[in-house]
Amino acid sequence: MNRRLASAVDLHTQMKQAHWNVKGPSFIGLHELFDKVDEAVESCVDMIAERIVQLGGIAEGTLRAAAKRSRLPEYPLTIASGKEHVEMLSRALAYFGETARKAIDQTDEIGDKGTADIFTEISRGVDKDLWFVEAHAQSEH
Ligand SMILES: [Fe+2]
Repeated sequence: MNRRLASAVDLHTQMKQAHWNVKGPSFIGLHELFDKVDEAVESCVDMIAERIVQLGGIAEGTLRAAAKRSRLPEYPLTIASGKEHVEMLSRALAYFGETARKAIDQTDEIGDKGTADIFTEISRGVDKDLWFVEAHAQSEH
């Protein structure tokens, strides 16, 4: 679970990175979209962290802890165009969605329906965010 939390914290910082640095003709649309998606990601961070604590664990939610554990692809710091940010964020969201779906199966197998339900909600949200971001990618061409 703390690995999922780390990925979610990592994804949150990647969204902000894109929100701040994106440039180009679609600037305002993408700048706002990335912030909106980030709000959804932050609520995932909160849900995962609070579930960890409810289960008796310690939520390892600092940036430094997240940096050690996250397996999200590294986000390049030098990209600027909307197309590049959209591509990188799509990749990160797809990866995060995949880990959320795996978490649904794993927690379901051990009979932890409550956690499985949380990851189902997260997975559904990520699918929607991915759709929003990818739909922008099509308008970039
Ligand atoms: Fe902002």
